[in-house]
Amino acid sequence: MTIDFDFDPNAVLVDSTTGIEGVNHIGLSVQNLDRVLDFYSAATGFEVIHKESFENDASADILFARNNVKIKTAILRAPNWVLELSEFAHNDSATLTDMPVIGPGMSHTCYQSPIDQPLFEKFAAQGARFLNRHDEPVYSPTYGVSYVYAYDPEGNLLEMEKLDGEQLLKHAGYLDNWDKDNKAIWMSQVSLFTPDRDRLMQFYHNIFRTNPHRIVEVPVGEFGDNLFDIDNAKVQIGWFRLNRQSKVMEILQFLNPPTPQSMIEREPTSLGYSFSLEVSDIEAEYQRLKALGVEFFSPPVKLGRFVQAYARDIDGNIFSLRQPVDSDGPFSVKAYDKRGGL
Ligand SMILES: [Fe+2]
Repeated sequence: MTIDFDFDPNAVLVDSTTGIEGVNHIGLSVQNLDRVLDFYSAATGFEVIHKESFENDASADILFARNNVKIKTAILRAPNWVLELSEFAHNDSATLTDMPVIGPGMSHTCYQSPIDQPLFEKFAAQGARFLNRHDEPVYSPTYGVSYVYAYDPEGNLLEMEKLDGEQLLKHAGYLDNWDKDNKAIWMSQVSLFTPDRDRLMQFYHNIFRTNPHRIVEVPVGEFGDNLFDIDNAKVQIGWFRLNRQSKVMEILQFLNPPTPQSMIEREPTSLGYSFSLEVSDIEAEYQRLKALGVEFFSPPVKLGRFVQAYARDIDGNIFSLRQPVDSDGPFSVKAYDKRGGL
C-alpha cells in the first residue's frame, strides 16, 4: 500500500470533506451487562441515558449478520462522548480473557481527568486491576500526564490519564479549547493496536480524507516498562484528531515486543471494543467505503434510532457507519461535541 498522507497539526476529522461527522460512540460488547454497567457507572459517574433491547427482530439479524440476535444495550454519557455497552445473549458462555496490552486490535479507550481528581481511586474502588509496576501511576513531565492501564471486570483494557497544568490538553497533544471546568472525568480515545501502523493510518486517511496530526517513535524505557509491565517496551504511535477538544484516534504499534497479526475473525457481536463513524448520508458513505475496498457485513439497516452498517477495517477491527434518524437529536456526535463548547 502506498503511503501518501501528510501531517497537519490542525487537522480535525470534523472538518473532513466526506460525509463523516465524527465518531459517534465507543462500543463495548460485554458478557454481563449489569456487572459491567455497574462498574463503569460507579467509577465514572456517567449517567445512563438510554437502555434498549431487541429480540426476534429481522433488522437486528441483518445488521449483526447473525440469526436470532438477542441484544441488550445501555448508553453511558460522558461530558463529551458516550460509551455504549451491549450484551448479546449468545456470548453468555464465551471465555473471558484479558486483552493483551500490545494488541492487536481496539484494545482500550481512555478516561481523563484533571490531576486533582481521584480518577484512579474511583476505578480502583470498583475493582479495576491495574497493570502498572510498583502499584504506581506513571508520570510524564513532558506531557504533564499521569498514566494508568487497568482491566475492567471482564478483562477489557482501559486507560486512565490525569492531566496537569494550565493548558493540560495542549501539553498532552490535544487542542486546548476543551472547557474542563466542572468535568471530573471525560472520554478521549479510539485506540487501535496494529502490526503495521503506517498501513492502518493510510487506511483511515483514505476513509477520513483527513491528515493525522502527529506521529512519534518512542523507545519508552523505564516509563513504558512500568506503564505496560513489559521489559524494554518500544512503540510507535500516530494520531488523528476527532474533534477540536478532547478526542483522538490513536494508532499504536509495539515494536518490542511486536504487536502480532490478529488471528481472530472478529464479528459485529464479538466481545470487546468497537466504534462508529457517524455520517450525514449513510448510503453515500457506504458506497464510497465499499469502493475503497472496505468489507461490510450488511447494507445500511434501520434499527431503533439509527441506520447502521457494520464493517471490518484492514486489521479486522469492527466499526460501523451510523446515521441518527434524528440528525439534530441527543444521540448525535454533534450534540456530544457541543457539550464541550465547540
Ligand atoms: Fe491510549
